[in-house]
Amino acid sequence: MFGFLNKEDPADNDNVTLDPQRIPAHVAIIMDGNGRWAKARHLPRVAGHKEGMNTVKKIAIAASDLGVKVLTLYAFSTENWKRPNDEVNYLMQLPVSFFDTFVPDLVKNNVRVAVMGYVDKLPAATQKAVRDAIEDTKDCDGMVLNFALNYGSRAEIVSGVQAIAEKVATGELAPQAITSATLDQALMTAPLAPYNDPDVLIRTSGEERISNFLLWQIAYSELVFTDVKWPDFTAATLKACLADYQSRDRRFGGLTDKK
Ligand code: IPE
Ligand code: IPE
Ligand code: MG
Repeated sequence: MFGFLNKEDPADNDNVTLDPQRIPAHVAIIMDGNGRWAKARHLPRVAGHKEGMNTVKKIAIAASDLGVKVLTLYAFSTENWKRPNDEVNYLMQLPVSFFDTFVPDLVKNNVRVAVMGYVDKLPAATQKAVRDAIEDTKDCDGMVLNFALNYGSRAEIVSGVQAIAEKVATGELAPQAITSATLDQALMTAPLAPYNDPDVLIRTSGEERISNFLLWQIAYSELVFTDVKWPDFTAATLKACLADYQSRDRRFGGLTDKK
C-alpha cells in the first residue's frame, strides 16, 4: 500500500492534506485495542475503556469538522457479553458518563446521536442515557454520530430477514419483489439513508478482521487497518486514514475513472 498511512506511527501523519471534495460521507470505525493499551501500561482493562471514551469525544468532533455525514462507532458487540461481568458492567455504564458530559458539546457542534443494535437488552440506565441523548440532539442536522451498541451483523441480518418473511407470509410482499433495497430497508442502517453503507471502514489495534460488523453494508467499503490502539487514535490518525481512503481507486466492479 502506498504510504499515506504509517500503520505504526500516527505522529508522522500530521502534515496530511485531504481533498475536501472527497471526504467520505459515512465513516465506520471498529474501535479496538483498549484492553491492550491498558495492559501495556499495567492498568486494568477498564482504564483503556475510559481513555477510549475520551478518544470518542475527540474523534466525533474531528470527523464533524472534516465534513463527515455519518460516523458509525462499534462500541459493544452482541459477542462482547462473553467478557467478565465487571468489564461488561463498566462498558454499560460508559454511555451514561459519555452522554452526561458530552451532549452539550454535541449540540454545540450540531451533531445528532443515533444508536443501532439491540438496545432493549441493555441495562435500564444505559437505555435511558441513550434515549435522552437522542432526544437532546434530535434537532441537530449536522453529522450523525451513530453508535453500534449491542450490535451484531448476523443478528441484524436475521432480524431483517424475519421482518421480510413476515411480510411475505401475510401476502404483503411477493418473494420475487425482494431486492437488495428491501434488505437495505430491513437493516439497522436504514435510518441513515442515503448513507447506509460506509465508504470507509477503519479498524484500530492491528487486528485485521470484521468481527461481525456491518457485513452487508461493507460490500464495497474501503478497508483501512491501523496498528494504533483506540486510546491513542487522534485527529491526525483519522486524517491519515482518510488520506489512505482518498488514495484508493473505487471501481465498484467497473473500470477506473482515473485518467
Ligand atoms: C475495544 O477494545 C472495545 C470493546 C470491544 C468494547 P477491546 O476491549 O477489545 O481491547 P483489546 O482488543 O482487548 O485490546
Ligand atoms: C469488536 O472488537 C467489537 C467492538 C470494537 C465493539 P472485539 O475486540 O470484540 O473483536 P474480536 O474479539 O477481537 O474479534
Ligand atoms: Mg478487542
